[in-house]
Amino acid sequence: MKILVIGSNGMLGRDVVNRLKNPSDPWNTYNEVAGVDREHVDIASYSSILMVVGQFAPDIIINCAAFTDVDACETQVSEAFAVNAAGARNVAQAGKAAGAKIIHISTDYVFDGTKNKPYVETDKPNPVSIYGKSKLEGELAIQELTNNYAIIRTAWLFGSHRDNFVTTMVALGGKNKTLSVVTDQIGSPTYTIDLSDALRTVIKHNLQGIYHITNTGSCSRYEWVRKIFELTGDCVSVLPIKSSNYKRPAPVPQNASLDCTKYALASGQKMRQWDEALKEYLNKITILKNN
Ligand SMILES: NC(=O)c1ccc[n+]([C@@H]2O[C@H](COP(=O)([O-])OP(=O)(O)OC[C@H]3O[C@@H](n4cnc5c(N)ncnc54)[C@H](OP(=O)(O)O)[C@@H]3O)[C@@H](O)[C@H]2O)c1
Repeated sequence: MKILVIGSNGMLGRDVVNRLKNPSDPWNTYNEVAGVDREHVDIASYSSILMVVGQFAPDIIINCAAFTDVDACETQVSEAFAVNAAGARNVAQAGKAAGAKIIHISTDYVFDGTKNKPYVETDKPNPVSIYGKSKLEGELAIQELTNNYAIIRTAWLFGSHRDNFVTTMVALGGKNKTLSVVTDQIGSPTYTIDLSDALRTVIKHNLQGIYHITNTGSCSRYEWVRKIFELTGDCVSVLPIKSSNYKRPAPVPQNASLDCTKYALASGQKMRQWDEALKEYLNKITILKNN
């Protein structure tokens, strides 16, 4: 199989390419994997993506490319829609023309966060931010254009290849004895390595449709940060605050946790607990920093 990963320099995309090329899984040796990012393709341009897809002729396209700065999306609205909505449409259209399956990464931010239980795939999206709205438009475009797709909604990613919430908190904890963190945003922290392996499972089982995939369990941002410092052993006191005391440009869904039962049943795989994945990640970045 030929697999094209778009957004391959991103936090998730780099792990996806690495895991799909990892020789320790014999299945990988049957596949040819190529990664492209901004220097090779602009998904906001149909001719650009059409050319890359035409050259590689993939059987599967994994689209990890997106405009992911949630706060910046509020002011750069047309860019957000050009990449997250029109870009997703362009990828689906070019993929369909090449007969390729589209695996597209989406987000918990398509929901408004008012549900008091984890969201299932059939819950009605109602995004509250420009980022969420642009990502939802991308999802709808793919569903309108092709039947051969898997849309994977995930959340609260952390990984080795870019700064993220965990690295930001660790850096802040190095400079401050006290950090104030919100207690009323709930989600499921998800390790990009675990999600990459789940995407491989999505390919192997030829899953079609929308799936929620995160690490298992959920927590508040406050609980997440407490766990980070418990694992690093840093003496930082974490103070609970409400979101109303920490204003950001983009509105954020309060309960963004996703129910991943559909994926578990379809694949026979359960994602590991988020705090177990976090522990492995923190060990890895500490080793990387010390070498
Ligand atoms: N991070 C999270 O917490 C999170 C949560 C839920 C869902 N997601 C979704 O997961 C996916 C991967 O996220 P991530 O955190 O890995 O994002 P990321 O690190 O920002 O990577 C996205 C990649 O896409 C590239 N890109 C942006 N615009 C492009 C364009 N027009 N054409 C081609 N490439 C373009 C970026 O290049 P530049 O760096 O040069 O812009 C970057 O390399 C995204 O779909 C995101 O919406 C992320």
